[in-house]
Amino acid sequence: MAPRKLAAGNWKMNGTLAALAEIDRLLADHPQPGCDVLLCPPATLVHAAAARAGHIAIGGQDCHAQASGAHTGDIAAAQLVDAGASHVIIGHSERRSDHGETDIQIAAKAVAAHQAGLVAVICVGETEAQRDAGQTLDVISAQLAGSMPEGATAANTVIAYEPVWAIGTGRTPTSDQIAEVHALMRQRLSDRFADGGDVALLYGGSVKPGNAAEIFAIPHVNGALVGGASLKAQDFGPIIAALSAA
Ligand code: PGA
Repeated sequence: MAPRKLAAGNWKMNGTLAALAEIDRLLADHPQPGCDVLLCPPATLVHAAAARAGHIAIGGQDCHAQASGAHTGDIAAAQLVDAGASHVIIGHSERRSDHGETDIQIAAKAVAAHQAGLVAVICVGETEAQRDAGQTLDVISAQLAGSMPEGATAANTVIAYEPVWAIGTGRTPTSDQIAEVHALMRQRLSDRFADGGDVALLYGGSVKPGNAAEIFAIPHVNGALVGGASLKAQDFGPIIAALSAA
């Protein structure tokens, strides 16, 4: 089994019901894409999005590590499933920085996601200071080791490499820099998991229609996690097309 190709969109804290028209447009423009497509809208839209998403999978942007209980404002993995989600983003750098999430907490959330039957899209990435200090590979290795639970498989886990300094900035690493990190991640996964060679590895951080094809040509890049350019079908559609053709 080769890793499945996945074009994933993260709407972050953007969008109201009106934004679901973008899903209709994507379905109309890409009725049979040559890759898996996932959109992660805000939690308020998961149910309505899933009801009209057709072949597009719908995911949450976070879940709690506990199955239920006194955690005001949080969402349990099973609640995402109940709303129609099949995936959940875990450990996005904005969760790591805004909410102080640690690798240990992220691994616990991934376990909760797996127990509920969700695919966990676990995010890792170095800061600009860490890259400048030559620590990128060590940081990614440590985040992977700490954030991926023992039960991770190619069927229930996707990894997204998102350099913090590339998110929402319009800046991207060079192809060689992405290739270096993705090769490292593939090696680490293959060392630790029986099917680590089959886990889909996404790149994320300022992926746009104009750079998608170049990024998807990099070895061990199996797709993208897209923020800003996933909000509009006219931007996300060409990224789906580029991945389908890769
Ligand atoms: P961006 O965000 O595509 O807007 O850079 C990527 C992400 O945070 O997943």
